[in-house]
Amino acid sequence: MFPERVLSGMRPTGALHLGHYHGVLKNWVRLQSEYPCLFFVADWHALTTHYDDPSIIESSTHEMVIDWLAAGLDPAQATIFVQSQVIEHAELFLLLGMSAPLGWLERVPTYKEQIEKLKEKDLSTYGFLGYPLLQAADILIYRAEHVPVGEDQVPHLEMTREIARRFNYLYGREKGFEEKAQEAVKKLGSKLAKQYLELRNRFQEQGEEEAIEQAHALLDESKNLTLADRERLFGYLEGSRKIILVEPQALLTKDSRMPGLDGQKMSKSYGNTIAMREDAESITKKIRTMPTDPARVRKTDAGDPEKCPVWAFHQIYSDAPTCAWVQDSCKNAKIGCLECKQPVIESVLREQQPLLERAQTYVDDPSLVRSIIADGSEKARKMAQETMRDVREVMGLG
Ligand code: TRP
Ligand code: SF4
Repeated sequence: MFPERVLSGMRPTGALHLGHYHGVLKNWVRLQSEYPCLFFVADWHALTTHYDDPSIIESSTHEMVIDWLAAGLDPAQATIFVQSQVIEHAELFLLLGMSAPLGWLERVPTYKEQIEKLKEKDLSTYGFLGYPLLQAADILIYRAEHVPVGEDQVPHLEMTREIARRFNYLYGREKGFEEKAQEAVKKLGSKLAKQYLELRNRFQEQGEEEAIEQAHALLDESKNLTLADRERLFGYLEGSRKIILVEPQALLTKDSRMPGLDGQKMSKSYGNTIAMREDAESITKKIRTMPTDPARVRKTDAGDPEKCPVWAFHQIYSDAPTCAWVQDSCKNAKIGCLECKQPVIESVLREQQPLLERAQTYVDDPSLVRSIIADGSEKARKMAQETMRDVREVMGLG
């Protein structure tokens, strides 16, 4: 009934680093050729924690979109936009808020955690409590089925599904739904109707997800249904309600474990990052001063790559012969650490080259970025408006 959309967002935090590139962006780039994708800058979400310091949001948004384009996101394939440019997100957020139980928001694990963690900020605000509800609106407004995110976002996705279910429960009730659905079944023709009812039974009695998928395919193929009847039959499969908002699933990006310069996970808060578009000189210096196995005080001291963050970089950036060379030379004290780091420096710089080239066009002409965002936001708005028409109608605002 709805196209199988992928959606994800990122708060504007300024220049992205190699952890974002390997952990998130490469995955987005792959997805853009497999599904209709929407990727957006969650600038309102940034304000939930940075409401006292909005000055960086605009420049961070711009730089971040350049990093996306540098990584290979293609505005001809994916819809790239900015949350605050699609005002409909705010409308859905408001309307979902009418029935969202406070307890659900308070119980989201990140809520209390973040308040604890960011002690220097006052996060006992309405906006911060609403963070996951705004995220739910971001997702539900496009009826997105897949949301590529990291492990930390799973509770938000769970709550989004609960919000969708509750919405459909409250507003998907239609007078005489059961009868209208049964009428619609007949319109399928006797053969398809029989198949449809069998699949419905299999799902309702055995909970077989596969049966639902087959039934969806069957409905997609059937030609003589009105849009309203089709929606009824989708809803009738799962219960006795119309499906207005679609329940999304997290598409877990497996932790790429891009290590930082100190061996911990690469993260801005640890100060151990290499920016995607950092200049060569600075990258070289950072890698040359990386800590190594502390046992290797002198070149003649044997080391253990397992105790060295440089080895973690080799595992990402070096081929098998180079890795074997590192193992042997380190354990047998055949080389100095600077020599060991040299191929890493070269690979990081080599891999960065195409990113820099792609970014250059946008650095030279910032208006290109602005028009990509404007076009993407326009496209996103059209999709969002379709959902909002249905939402308003069932909430008595038609
Ligand atoms: N909360 C997400 C994060 O911190 C960002 C985000 C906002 C998001 N809205 C979203 C992610 C919708 C996926 C879908 O990473
Ligand atoms: Fe690390 Fe390489 Fe030095 Fe061994 S030789 S400690 S792997 S930098």
